[in-house]
Amino acid sequence: MTSTATLSLANKQILLGVTGGIAAYKSADLVRRLQDAGARVQVVMTPAAQEFITPLTMQALSGNPVHTQLLDPEAEAGMGHIQLARWADLVLIAPATADFIARLSQGMGNDLLTSICLATAAPIALAPAMNQGMWHNAATQANLELLRTRKIHLFGPADGGQACGDIGPGRMLEPLQLVDAAASLFTTGSLAGKKVVITAGPTREALDPVRYLSNHSSGKMGYAIAQAAAEAGARTILISGPTQLATPARVTRIDVVSANEMLDESLKAAEGCDLFIAAAAVADYRPAQQASQKIKKGASDTMMLELVKNPDIVASIASLNPKPFVVGFAAESENLLEHARAKLTRKNVDLIVANNISDSRIGFNSDDNAVTLVDANSTTEISQRSKQQLARELIAHFAQTITTS
Ligand code: C5P
Repeated sequence: MTSTATLSLANKQILLGVTGGIAAYKSADLVRRLQDAGARVQVVMTPAAQEFITPLTMQALSGNPVHTQLLDPEAEAGMGHIQLARWADLVLIAPATADFIARLSQGMGNDLLTSICLATAAPIALAPAMNQGMWHNAATQANLELLRTRKIHLFGPADGGQACGDIGPGRMLEPLQLVDAAASLFTTGSLAGKKVVITAGPTREALDPVRYLSNHSSGKMGYAIAQAAAEAGARTILISGPTQLATPARVTRIDVVSANEMLDESLKAAEGCDLFIAAAAVADYRPAQQASQKIKKGASDTMMLELVKNPDIVASIASLNPKPFVVGFAAESENLLEHARAKLTRKNVDLIVANNISDSRIGFNSDDNAVTLVDANSTTEISQRSKQQLARELIAHFAQTITTS
């Protein structure tokens, strides 16, 4: 396994589909190798796969229950096919038999694995494994051609001796080769040579040495964007308010507490910056006075706090000359597009990522998000998916915009 694999697969959620071929025994090792590279793995097995290797083995190795049924009310009430489809950053099917490839190419959804493949927005990769005659068969080749046009990735197969004694193409790639191939899907290079600065998390505005005003931002969206930017090859600087999150690999993190500190660090980092993404939930106001000693409870039942407006960080960056491509976020509970457009103009940013916070399944503190991208000329919807997947979509969109503008 290459060190790049370890960086690119860190925290990735990989749904490993196992279909019924003799190479299924290698899938057990593959689970371990993916985990060694930092990935989280859930396994889905077809009925035929279970003839070759037991779900118990895969459960023990992955540390998660193995999913085998489409129409099981209990399973659907827990992690059903739509949740699994959304959970996955990558659906990797290894081994992928000729039969599975045929069913996938026809868009069938007659078992759990094909249904997940139909429902997922994540990339799908197949590691074919079959007898060389089945591989060469015109039907198999036509099915693969169709899948290639649908941007489904093919890892292998390798050439060589087969379980049946034949020699030829159709051997599944080795687990470590599959790990490297999976990792390469996450390293796009679309922002190679670019400097990207991201603000993330909440700010804390001190009242006195022990109290502050803040908000519930987790920082997950900004951190996911930083990881996606680094994977796209950008020099990535993450200016972060207080969060519980680990710094993504290859990201330089600068910790700040207040909005004023975030502004200072953002202005410093803006030097030579190509893309500035303001994902932080900056406190709009701060206490006018910060007491040097703990404020004592008074005799009165009420207490007045005077607040002053914080600087608008994203607007300050957008007013620089030269300025980077500037992206702001708009979390709105009503009139989403109207408010997003108003923000685009008021802050003079190039693009607004708008999300509807009245929907509790997405946004603030949740793991999923769905957004609308608003720029001067167009709007683009991105449907609900994990913040990691969304971050990669956003980075791909921004990369295309800044390299073609
Ligand atoms: O004005 P509002 O807070 O709704 O705008 C949200 C966008 O502006 C986000 O991108 C946020 O990071 C950014 N912002 C900022 N500085 C502020 C307030 C918001 O950079 N003081």
